[in-house]
Amino acid sequence: MTALTRLPDTAMPLPADLQGFTLAPSPQSPRLLRLTVSRPVVEAFLAAVVDWPVQALEYKSMLRFRVARILDDLCGNTLQPVLINTLVDRETGGLQVTPEGLDDVEQADEMVKFATAVAHLMGRSNFDAMSGQYYARFVVKNVDASDSYLRQPHRVMELHNDGTFVEQDTDYVLMMKIDEQHMQGGDSLLLHLDDWEDLSRFHRHPLARREMRWIAPPSKNVARDVFHPVFDVDVEGRPIMSYIDQFVQPRDFEEGNWLCDLSESLEGSPAILSVPNPVGSFLLINNHFWLHGRDRFTPHPELRRELMRQRGHFTHARTLREPCRR
Ligand SMILES: [Fe+2]
Repeated sequence: MTALTRLPDTAMPLPADLQGFTLAPSPQSPRLLRLTVSRPVVEAFLAAVVDWPVQALEYKSMLRFRVARILDDLCGNTLQPVLINTLVDRETGGLQVTPEGLDDVEQADEMVKFATAVAHLMGRSNFDAMSGQYYARFVVKNVDASDSYLRQPHRVMELHNDGTFVEQDTDYVLMMKIDEQHMQGGDSLLLHLDDWEDLSRFHRHPLARREMRWIAPPSKNVARDVFHPVFDVDVEGRPIMSYIDQFVQPRDFEEGNWLCDLSESLEGSPAILSVPNPVGSFLLINNHFWLHGRDRFTPHPELRRELMRQRGHFTHARTLREPCRR
């Protein structure tokens, strides 16, 4: 377990042996770990929660934590400390989670339950204003009429952090693939800040800490503008970001051009990871030091992709110096 033993100081004691799941570096990067939950554990979990439809988890927040405990119990309570520690570990901070046997759109509700359990072992998912729930499911099709690049397939969705225009802390982002038909391309793009060659150049710039204005398009159902700088530092003084190109409103020539330089540098970074995410799997990343985006994909008249996301705040450990936006 090399990925585990190099954690310098952990938020929680780590188990000596993992039960019910495996952990290994991904082929893309040692920073992104692959967590595979075994089929017997997935089956036992789904059987244990069969009486709670997703609607029960929507209506009763407390049940999200109960399904989390059921999953951790099935893993001999070795899953929770791994999740808590990995998400705040600056060396990694990212997981691709695969529940074995959960890989068909017919199991969409089971996928939501499983992802909810994982998220609520180390955090609490925020209210998602787009869906009115603690999670959002949305479909990408060949033709799109929305007002942001979220659902537009034929172009790159540039690297960004989530939660830039909301007042809640967005410590983690969970992105699950529920369905995929006639898809070519469209892999997830990820960039760890410490792999970005221009990090110190931009982080040291005076504009890095200037408050900027962030506004959401109408579909996001967020009424108020939010003000914060692009860069901050974490609990240990390391750079973190809160940035998205579509929603920042530079106030003048200087800010606008600095942001364009920043965007060009990010998009051109050779350290960007391209990660295919199969149906039923999800990416779970620390949103403060991982940027995410999506590669373009090839048009097809019957193209369909369905995704589920959860964004939330940590409940056991932290990255932010002063958690406040709840
Ligand atoms: Fe995003």
